[in-house]
Amino acid sequence: MALSLVGKSSLCLVLMLASWALHAASRTLPEASIQQKYEQWMAEHGRVYADGEEKQQRLEIFADNLQFIEDFNRAGNRTFKLGLNAFSDQTVEEFLELSTGLVLPSTLHPRTTPFMYANITHIPDSMDWVAKGAVNAIKDQGGCGSCWAFSSVAAIESITQIKTGKLLELSEQQLVDCTVENSGCDGGWMNTAFNYVIKNGGITSEANYPYNASDGTCHAHAASMTVAKIVGYEDVPANNEGELLKAVAMQPVSVALDGGEREFQLYSSGVFNGNCGKAMSHAVVIVGYGTAEDGTKYWKIRNSWGHTWGEAGYMKIQRDYGQPEGLCGLAMHASYPVV
Ligand SMILES: *[C@@H]1O[C@H](CO)[C@@H](O)[C@H](O)[C@H]1NC(C)=O
Ligand SMILES: *[C@@H]1O[C@H](CO)[C@@H](O)[C@H](O)[C@H]1NC(C)=O
Ligand SMILES: *[C@@H]1O[C@H](CO)[C@@H](O)[C@H](O)[C@H]1NC(C)=O
Repeated sequence: MALSLVGKSSLCLVLMLASWALHAASRTLPEASIQQKYEQWMAEHGRVYADGEEKQQRLEIFADNLQFIEDFNRAGNRTFKLGLNAFSDQTVEEFLELSTGLVLPSTLHPRTTPFMYANITHIPDSMDWVAKGAVNAIKDQGGCGSCWAFSSVAAIESITQIKTGKLLELSEQQLVDCTVENSGCDGGWMNTAFNYVIKNGGITSEANYPYNASDGTCHAHAASMTVAKIVGYEDVPANNEGELLKAVAMQPVSVALDGGEREFQLYSSGVFNGNCGKAMSHAVVIVGYGTAEDGTKYWKIRNSWGHTWGEAGYMKIQRDYGQPEGLCGLAMHASYPVV
C-alpha cells in the first residue's frame, strides 16, 4: 500500500505543501503527542516510507487528519465518530484517486427491465445479510480504483449464497482484467461488469484468479473456469429509498455513492450523516438495514477498504434522509444481479 502511494502522489506534493503550512497554523494538539501517535500508527499499519522526507510529509498530512478527527469528536454532538485508519496519512484528494473508482458510462440507458421486487409485501423491520451468512469477510481493493469490481462480486456472491446455500469467493481480478468496457484500476461501473459475467457464462473463483490490485491482461483460460453464473441484473427504481428497501430485504444491492469527503474517509463508528454530495465516485454494497437506539434509520454498507475503516469495514449510513436520492446519492444508481 505504501509503495503504491509514492508514485501517484508525487504529482500532488507541490500543491499539498502549500496547504500544509496553512493547516499547521490551526493545530492545537501538542507536537510530541502527534509524533507519538504517528509512530504508533505506523507500527499498527506496518507503514514504511521511502525516506525521511516522505515520512515528514506524511506526518504533516497525518497531523492534519488527527486534528480534524479530534475536533470533530470533541464537539460530541454527532451520531457518528471519526478515527484513525489505514488512510490517515492521505489527503482526501489522494484517497479519492487511490481508493474509489466508480465511473458511470457517458450515456446511461433508462431502465427497461421490470423491478422484480415491486410487489413484495413482507419487508422485515431489520435485515442483516452478514449475520445470515451471505457475505464474505471484508476485502481491501488496495491502491486500485476497482471499487466497482468489489461491489459487483460481493452482490453476486451474496445472491449465489442465498439461492444455493454456498458462500463462494469470486474473482474481482477477472472483472478488472476482462471487462474491457470498464477501465480496470482506472474505474468502472457495476452493470457493465454484470453484463460481462452474463456474456462470459459466469465468473471464476478468487483462488483461481486472485486479486493483485493492478491492471493485467485477461487470462482467458482462468476466466472460462466459471463457478457461479448470473442470468441478468436489474436497476432499482432510482431515487426511492422505499423501493431500495424492498430490494435489500431480498438480497444485497450494489450502489454508487459519493465517498470522496473527508468525514467519509475517516469514518469510524455510529450512524453516518456527514458531509457528502452527489458526485458518484465510489461503489459499495448495501447488506442490510435497521434502526439505531435513538430511532435513526440506517443502511448497513459493506466497503472494500479493509478492516481498519469504519466498523470493521462496514458503515451505518442514515436511511430515509429526506431527499429522494438518499444520503451521498446512494439511491441514485442501485442494481442487483439476478440468478
Ligand atoms: C456541533 O457543534 C459544533 C461546535 O460547537 C457546531 O459548529 C456544529 O454546528 C454542531 N453540529 C450539529 C450537527 O449540531
Ligand atoms: C406488480 O403489480 C402490478 C399491479 O398489479 C403489476 O402490473 C406488475 O406487473 C407487478 N409486478 C411484478 C414484478 O410482479
Ligand atoms: C496481476 O494479475 C494479473 C492477472 O493474473 C496479471 O496479468 C498481472 O500481471 C498481475 N500483476 C502483478 C503486478 O502481479
